[in-house]
Amino acid sequence: MKNTSVFTGRSLCVIEDFTKEERLYLFEQARILKRAMEEQDEATLSRFRIDDRDFGIYEVFLEDSTRTKESFRNAANFHHAKVSELNSDSSSFNKGESYADTFFTLSGYSNTIFIVRSRLEGVCRWLEESCSAYAARNRLWRKPAFINAGDGRHEHPTQELLDEFTFLEDNDYSHEELHLALVGDLFHGRTVHSKADGLTIFNRVKIDLIAPPELAMPELYVEKMVDNGFEVRTFASIDDYLDQEDVAKKWYFTRPQLERMGEQILKREAQLRHAITFRRDLLPNIAEGTKFYHPLPRHKQHPTIPTFLDSTPLNGWERQSINGMYVRIVLLAMIAGTIGSEFKSSVVPKSVQREEYIHEVDLAGRQPKEKVISEGVQPIHNGLVIDHILRGEDPTSIRDHMRLISSVLGLDEAKGGEWVSTGGKERECFKGIIFRPGNVELSRKHLKRLAAVAPGCTLNLIKDGAVAHKYRLSLPPRIYNFEDLGCTNEACISHPDQSEGVPALFLRRHDNHFVCAYCEKPHTFKEIWKSRNK
Ligand code: CP
Repeated sequence: MKNTSVFTGRSLCVIEDFTKEERLYLFEQARILKRAMEEQDEATLSRFRIDDRDFGIYEVFLEDSTRTKESFRNAANFHHAKVSELNSDSSSFNKGESYADTFFTLSGYSNTIFIVRSRLEGVCRWLEESCSAYAARNRLWRKPAFINAGDGRHEHPTQELLDEFTFLEDNDYSHEELHLALVGDLFHGRTVHSKADGLTIFNRVKIDLIAPPELAMPELYVEKMVDNGFEVRTFASIDDYLDQEDVAKKWYFTRPQLERMGEQILKREAQLRHAITFRRDLLPNIAEGTKFYHPLPRHKQHPTIPTFLDSTPLNGWERQSINGMYVRIVLLAMIAGTIGSEFKSSVVPKSVQREEYIHEVDLAGRQPKEKVISEGVQPIHNGLVIDHILRGEDPTSIRDHMRLISSVLGLDEAKGGEWVSTGGKERECFKGIIFRPGNVELSRKHLKRLAAVAPGCTLNLIKDGAVAHKYRLSLPPRIYNFEDLGCTNEACISHPDQSEGVPALFLRRHDNHFVCAYCEKPHTFKEIWKSRNK
């Protein structure tokens, strides 16, 4: 059995799956490997090679690729490892087979690392989860690992690794600061989306976003950058950018993916391309030492970095592309070989605390109140009262939301009603009340649903004119296990229209928004419930 390390068998679904410290370790190894390759230092190179005859990679590319696919193939060749490939055009995907069933099958044939490119967002996270369970129930001796080779508009973490490595190379390996201009189609480009978390390896980051509004960076990634402490500025075109003085010395261009946009946008195609394409007349405005990068491919008719720049010192993109193989050799050597066996993390893993969000109020010793609800509503003798719904919001939103809560809890057919009130001393503070007289049973699952759809509410279960049980419900840390919910991102593997059978899973963020565990789209709790399938 070979030495294992913290990296053994790990998946890389998003760039944050490897911590900053782990990525910096990977880059140090890539630097050593690259030098050894240039010097043909066989002793060092052999230290990197995976000594495992059973090791292989499995490439499953459901979208086109040259660099990612071929650099992984050549990285595997370096390790003398077998490379398998699923021909998706002639596979049983075409017979309607799901991702999970396809990868269960492949996992059973080989203990391997899967390199997956798909238009479906979050696919690797789902496969990591579902194939681990498959490996356990079938007693596979090693669970498969998944490397995301680009999923829709979401992330491209191995491109991010090679980009970061190239920026470090051009920063004398200092990760103190980075000033980077991102130019082009920032809306669709997954390589620039990975930068929101990826560039956290640098202590100080200034990002200039250069794109016309139609191609602007989605707000979610801008927010992530700001949350990560980056200084972020926006410009509508390269000309606008060069009209001011604080110009970055590193520019990262991306390919406009106008084919993904509607006809209205295509009418403005020439204008949009002009805004993000570098021109010869701009050269005098570029400071010495500036480098341009591009994840490639560039379009042969409309390159945003024109080919006349290939032989200039601005050219950083060719070395960037070459670095892709070094970085991927090291990544494979960490996941399946011995590179990293001496790595010790200084990060103390956070202990997972169970968070209680359904609090039963101890009623012992409390004097029963005469009335449970007021303002013209008769107190009920038996039944339930949900109080303090959306406290502080406007009456219309509260009424709409109460209808939703009633439906979510399956209370539509029962007697009773909904009421908007201004309770207690705060006369201007509205809140909603739902009451249902009679024998209404609520299970633990109902309480979880109520907490997720009406956080901050109080549930009173009334028996013989007195409150028998009282619960205060707060926002849960996760929303999951509800069959009627799905992610609202149509490109997400857990969106119901994808029919992949992936149960929705939302994780609460620091700002009380819920991100989809697969595609990371943020939602408010209201957004999650409004899109439910009834
Ligand atoms: N940069 C990149 O992902 O290139 P390919 O699409 O050719 O893999």
